[in-house]
Amino acid sequence: MRARTFLVDEGNSERLLRVQANALGATRHMVRRFALNQLQRELSAPLRPKRTPRDLAKLKAAPGGESAFRAGEALSDLFEGVLSGEAISLQGVSQAAAGVLASVGDVGAGQWLATVREHHEGTFQHCMLVTGVAAGFARGAKLSSAQAGALMNAALLHDIGKAVIPRNILDKPGKLTPEEFEAVKLHPVAGYDYLGKHGSVSPVIMDAVRHHHEALDGSGYPDKLKGEEITPLTRILTACDVFAALVETRPYKATRTPEEAVEVLIDMTLTSKVDYGPVRALAGSFGVALPPTMGGLVTKVAGVRPLG
Ligand SMILES: [Fe+2]
Ligand SMILES: [Fe+2]
Repeated sequence: MRARTFLVDEGNSERLLRVQANALGATRHMVRRFALNQLQRELSAPLRPKRTPRDLAKLKAAPGGESAFRAGEALSDLFEGVLSGEAISLQGVSQAAAGVLASVGDVGAGQWLATVREHHEGTFQHCMLVTGVAAGFARGAKLSSAQAGALMNAALLHDIGKAVIPRNILDKPGKLTPEEFEAVKLHPVAGYDYLGKHGSVSPVIMDAVRHHHEALDGSGYPDKLKGEEITPLTRILTACDVFAALVETRPYKATRTPEEAVEVLIDMTLTSKVDYGPVRALAGSFGVALPPTMGGLVTKVAGVRPLG
């Protein structure tokens, strides 16, 4: 099914109009008073990245490019599935996730991420970078194949609920308004609901998709979980998600180095947002040195047992 964009008047009744548009089958909205080129871009924005045969050949020839291409195709299928409400094959998703894990083993996480940054953009780039970072984590932390498989699938699936968020919000350069942020906050539950209806995804992966924006101190969303209520897999996914968001390339913000990303994550452990255990393992996977005393300090601050 194709995407259906509805044009909605801004003003007091905007919320009601959005609800009515949804009832009529809208898959995304644009609020009136936009530039003509914005409208054209929105209406022509493909879910599946359009590439010339030359660009596609370049991607496939890049280190890790074949697995990056397959992961991108799986994401396109997922986003289209969430938008249309139709089921998609999750076997393809698992195969793509396993392909990324193998490819990161071959070319290295840093190189795989560089290929993705060069050939993908926006939300797809983010989802793929999280998957690549998760692969680096799984290899560096020597996860068992079952644990690695769960993490890789959770990473590829974690933001599919963003398919229901209007593109102009997702791609907005700069800070979101409080209303826009409220819209973005719907995505973990949207992804979780879609998988619940159409997938045979394990509960532990479902949990990670729903709770990847929770924080140890209870200030996250959607369920304001705290400390030990957040599962080990979800804590790892959250660390990978933040790391990937920091090292991604967007036209309007600086790309951070792995060292800088780990520094931000350490700050987040000190304020009891993110668990130190996964941050330490992630730093090790990307060759970033940490102060040796960090473990004890953060355990005290966060009041939770770090993961190994
Ligand atoms: Fe997310
Ligand atoms: Fe994310």
